[in-house]
Amino acid sequence: MARVSASSYHGSIRLLPWAIAALISAIAYRIYLHDTFALIFGFGRVIQPIEDFPWDCKRIQHPLLEGCEDIWLDYNNRKLYGACTSLNSRTGWNPSGSLFNVSARSRTDHISVLNIDEPGVDGLYGLHQLKIDYAGDLDLQGFDVKRIGDRQRFWLINHRPPVDPATGEPLDPRKVGANSTVEIFDLDTPSSTLVHVKTIASEAIISPNNLAVADDGIGFLVTNDHDAKAGMFRDLVILLGGGSLTYCRSDTGKCEVVARKNCSLPNGAVRGLDGRFYVSHSTSGVITVHEYSEDGLVEVKTIPLNVPLDNLSVNKDGNIMVAAIPHSVGFMQAADDPYNRVAAAGVLMLTNTDSLGNNYEVIKVIEDRDAKYLPTTTVAVHDAQTHRLFLAGGFSPFLSICQKRN
Ligand SMILES: *[C@@H]1O[C@H](CO)[C@@H](O)[C@H](O)[C@H]1NC(C)=O
Ligand SMILES: *[C@@H]1O[C@H](CO)[C@@H](O)[C@H](O)[C@H]1NC(C)=O
Ligand SMILES: *[C@@H]1O[C@H](CO)[C@@H](O)[C@H](O)[C@H]1NC(C)=O
Ligand SMILES: *[C@@H]1O[C@H](CO)[C@@H](O)[C@H](O)[C@H]1NC(C)=O
Repeated sequence: MARVSASSYHGSIRLLPWAIAALISAIAYRIYLHDTFALIFGFGRVIQPIEDFPWDCKRIQHPLLEGCEDIWLDYNNRKLYGACTSLNSRTGWNPSGSLFNVSARSRTDHISVLNIDEPGVDGLYGLHQLKIDYAGDLDLQGFDVKRIGDRQRFWLINHRPPVDPATGEPLDPRKVGANSTVEIFDLDTPSSTLVHVKTIASEAIISPNNLAVADDGIGFLVTNDHDAKAGMFRDLVILLGGGSLTYCRSDTGKCEVVARKNCSLPNGAVRGLDGRFYVSHSTSGVITVHEYSEDGLVEVKTIPLNVPLDNLSVNKDGNIMVAAIPHSVGFMQAADDPYNRVAAAGVLMLTNTDSLGNNYEVIKVIEDRDAKYLPTTTVAVHDAQTHRLFLAGGFSPFLSICQKRN
């Protein structure tokens, strides 16, 4: 008897911390996390099959179109640019996903180009990569482009492996994180070469995911998807929210954190035709709208979309295209095994319905519950002129093009 009760007493002692932990988690779940879980796991969300939508889609697969995390449409010159890598590289070295295996880097990251109106006999739209005049490797993610005079200027996020500034010796990125910078390049059109202009390195560029250049062609807004570059609690941002927005100047190279409030893994960033910045927050499913002035960044609007969000783009009419992640578990599985799995994908469109910019309408443009045609989509662009959608994915071996049916 004595032994039994002693051991059961012992047993309860051992269980006590777990009981307390369970109780705290239950309370935390009720108070903070229920909405986050509901959003991330999509409780009650209906995902529609692609047949419900008036688009004909096809996939284009090519090694140069692997892992295109971001794409940008130059609708005047009818070219689509993508920041692409190899999938082995993306699944090993991806600071946004806390993947820090330096030796997995393929060192083949590049900007791919498609001539969107010239499919050609092979159906590859004249696919090629830009030459890059730069001493070093690029590890790409988000980018933005703006015409400055007669040149196209590119701002590229570059996740460098960290080195000791004094000795040049490699540092362990699991401890210190990536040394993420923004590289500015000019595209010299006749030779199709990106010529390096300068590097912006700053403490305020913490964990950059994407960026958007302001109308003046000097300022740019960066989304930091985490609060820290490294560390074991870094990914708690997925459950608890966090991350920040940083504003930099290309001329002085100075950057500062301009927003931390209301951030929940800020991911995509674009500048609308209205001059405002739009930021998608992956884990709250919200888009925040901001105005920047010398006095700082002001949040003027929040638009809840109630689905985990990925990157943004703007079409010619000023509508914001939003890549959504309707099935996040499928997304994570596809990110892990990109050659064999494709996740359900969706695209939403945000239209400003009044001239004062206070009302936004949200339209579901396409969804692919069964992953039949779309990639595991992280970004979508819309060519309003030819009624086409281009969809790409940082964890996808192909790109998709959808044509609207009349
Ligand atoms: C890092 O990447 C290399 C090259 O792909 C691979 O051989 C190695 O197993 C990876 N290491 C870890 C810890 O995953
Ligand atoms: C797009 O979303 C993915 C997944 O959330 C993220 O890792 C990536 O950095 C984003 N890309 C850009 C260009 O914003
Ligand atoms: C990061 O890159 C910048 C620009 O090359 C360099 O000046 C700095 O020393 C690097 N820092 C680390 C920790 O790698
Ligand atoms: C955060 O969001 C709330 C609710 O939308 C808003 O009232 C508040 O002004 C925002 N805070 C900042 C600093 O933008």
